[in-house]
Amino acid sequence: MKVTVVGAGAVGATCADNIARKELCTELVLLDIKEGLAEGKAQDMMQTAALLGFDTTIVGSTNDYTKTAGSDVVVITSGIPRKPGMTREELIGTNAGIVKGVCENILKYSPNTIIIVISNPMDTMTYLALTSTGLPKNRIIGMGGTLDSSRFKYQLSQHLGCSPSDLNAVVVGGHGDTTMIPLIRHATWNSAPVTNFLSADQQNQIVNDTMVGGATLTKLIGTSAWYAPGAAGAALVESIVRDQKKLFTCCVSLEGEYGQNDICLGVPVTIGKNGWEKVLDFKLNADEQAAFNKSADAVRSMNEVLKTL
Ligand code: 2OP
Repeated sequence: MKVTVVGAGAVGATCADNIARKELCTELVLLDIKEGLAEGKAQDMMQTAALLGFDTTIVGSTNDYTKTAGSDVVVITSGIPRKPGMTREELIGTNAGIVKGVCENILKYSPNTIIIVISNPMDTMTYLALTSTGLPKNRIIGMGGTLDSSRFKYQLSQHLGCSPSDLNAVVVGGHGDTTMIPLIRHATWNSAPVTNFLSADQQNQIVNDTMVGGATLTKLIGTSAWYAPGAAGAALVESIVRDQKKLFTCCVSLEGEYGQNDICLGVPVTIGKNGWEKVLDFKLNADEQAAFNKSADAVRSMNEVLKTL
């Protein structure tokens, strides 16, 4: 197995680090446009191999896409991150050009790859990757909901006093502060509804804190977060290369599912060797479906901006 991570910034490097530690592939390419950055970080990670005991070979590359040839999975993290006070949507002008160029270069050398998009605004960048490459829809996966669902489980665990990994909880819709929808009614603590254990106020707070999870960290750190985004990307790579068919919320092309068309938006899917394989219908109630439709409207108007660039 061969995996490429494009972008050796904090998110890309963390994603690569997780992939190597878990030995998800034999060869891992880390590529960046900035001279020496990917080579340096790849070498730094390789110097942890003897300490951590992994055998994945990590190769750094300054924009040489020939090194990525034959990748089974490519994770795209390229683009500028947001600064405090910025929305993910404000990045569109810069990041659209970058993501489109990366997709073109990747496909020259890995025409059969599966692409995971992390760059923001993630829903629109996923739509751009789908429409600009013309790849089969199952091979284009946006990561956002995987991260947001993990943040949702963290917030729930803080109120419930439980292990985040004992929770099942998903965030659907867009990967934006106002477009994501933490589905608290569907969340369970080892199969018992979490709503059995939380007051209405607690539930509202958990939902709100989840929605601004990324913005809260951006304010604290001064730039966008990387540990959870990088780990979320690696979790998707793992489910693909090990054909685990795990359930994640991912941004995928909808053709009637959840009442939407011609859009990439976060829904629960299984992830396996073919990319995203199956959309699960969570049977949203009227309020949840209305929120999902509103989220789709916001993402669709962001997608329209692509036409003006
Ligand atoms: C976040 O929410 C990077 O969009 C990512 O932290």
